[in-house]
Amino acid sequence: MFPPIFGGFRKALKDIEYGRYVIPEGWQIFWVASMTHMDYSIFPEPSKFDPSRFENQASIPPYCYVPFGAGPRICPGYEFARIETLVVIHYLITHFKWKLLCSDNFFSRNPTSFPSKGLPVQITPKKIL
Ligand code: HEM
Repeated sequence: MFPPIFGGFRKALKDIEYGRYVIPEGWQIFWVASMTHMDYSIFPEPSKFDPSRFENQASIPPYCYVPFGAGPRICPGYEFARIETLVVIHYLITHFKWKLLCSDNFFSRNPTSFPSKGLPVQITPKKIL
């Protein structure tokens, strides 16, 4: 929802009309991934916890999942980063027990989202049989 690289710059090569706005040729545009991921017109309940929200390709238009950008400059580390994340999460979950030590935690944005009080957890190794 809020990727660590939260957006990027593009330069308008010609005048572009977007919504009711004209972006003149030569202007810099900063696109923000979370604005698309939280768009009510695409996801009727954008704040709902729904890890599968991007999987139903039939019901969402193209380019609605953009944590790695899109188009010719899409992140070349896309698949590597996804696999690496899955492998790390897999081992953290299957080899360790987790206990959250801070229950009254909230998220802040500066400019990306992070837990306001850090994320203190107690991690205990599991016995692997
Ligand atoms: C969670 C991890 C990562 C995220 C969220 C991420 C996100 C992004 C985003 C948003 C862009 C800009 C795409 C665009 O302008 O459309 C980008 C570009 C890029 N990323 Fe990643 N990235 C990640 C991991 C990686 C890894 C692991 C590598 C290399 C092994 C990598 C290499 C690059 C490179 C070289 C570019 C520039 C591509 C270009 O401008 O043509 N990234 N990434």
